[in-house]
Amino acid sequence: MPTIPPQAAPLDNLRFVYVTGKGGVGKTTVSAALARAMAARGRRVLLCMCNAKERLSGMLGSQPIGPEIVHVAPNIDAVNMVPEKCLEEYGVLMLKSKTLYDALFDNRYVRTFFNAVPGMSEWSMLGKAWWHTTELLSGRTTDEREPPYGDGWKYETVIVDAPATGHGVDMLKVPRVLLDVAPGGPLRRDADRAWRLFQDPSHSGVILVTLPEEMPANETIELATAVRELGLPIPRLVVNALLPPLFTRDQRAQVAEQAKDDRLVPARARAAREIIQSQAMEKLSTLGIQTTYLPFLVTLEPSDPAAILYLAKGL
Ligand SMILES: Nc1ncnc2c1ncn2[C@@H]1O[C@H](COP(=O)(O)OP(=O)(O)O)[C@@H](O)[C@H]1O
Ligand SMILES: [Mg+2]
Repeated sequence: MPTIPPQAAPLDNLRFVYVTGKGGVGKTTVSAALARAMAARGRRVLLCMCNAKERLSGMLGSQPIGPEIVHVAPNIDAVNMVPEKCLEEYGVLMLKSKTLYDALFDNRYVRTFFNAVPGMSEWSMLGKAWWHTTELLSGRTTDEREPPYGDGWKYETVIVDAPATGHGVDMLKVPRVLLDVAPGGPLRRDADRAWRLFQDPSHSGVILVTLPEEMPANETIELATAVRELGLPIPRLVVNALLPPLFTRDQRAQVAEQAKDDRLVPARARAAREIIQSQAMEKLSTLGIQTTYLPFLVTLEPSDPAAILYLAKGL
């Protein structure tokens, strides 16, 4: 098994972590591994998926994860958020009663409401994830950054595995948008509270996941720029599926030039990939974000619980 290169400091002080990046780069894998890493250090974690095709339970070796929060591993709860369900929860929270909610709204109304307010479907999930950062062990909630004396956070860290579709920041922008369009009232107040937390670098951060390849690296640079323009902190870049280099820089160039020797086809392919990888990493380093490298897994099935536990050591 390859050794994992030296890593950046743990992300354990963060109360809210938003894991984003292009589809297929390993967001869910990294979210699961981060949850495992934090949980192993004793933090109570809630892992939130956004209406995803659920593969997380396989990665954690747990029962299936649906729209209700379930306990999946020591110190880890998880949920697969579904907009309609989240909105209903929010409504009940506002009205403080499910019967009242049912009496006032039927599903048809909820659906119409969704279509009418832009960003509402995203906010129903992001807002739910944020709301869980305000929950205390006692069952109460608080606006403060520290739990009151004698109480503690129900979840010390909430990790959101961002949706695969669309640009990774679309969902993150929603509280900002709501602050512009929502009139006063609880919706605006919560969007404001969430937005203030998301902007606070000592309590919240966006983690960018990427692969050490040309296109993903370019897209990650764009993504980082967009996140920074929103004023949101990026405490970590995770470069996933790194090939452990077999060649030095000079050897790569030499091997790549041995075009005529057929016995060297695999070596040339490898050298070419290593060249691309090192160029991508160089480009990514211009972002100046603390970076964690996770190895490309060959001997472990990457979505098995054992692989997630192994990757967690790097986080
Ligand atoms: N470090 C790795 N080494 C090998 N395969 C990986 C690694 N990380 C992720 N994968 C695999 O890549 C695929 C995409 O990962 P996933 O976490 O589902 O990405 P995303 O959530 O960004 O779409 C999955 O099949 C996963 O098992
Ligand atoms: Mg995913």
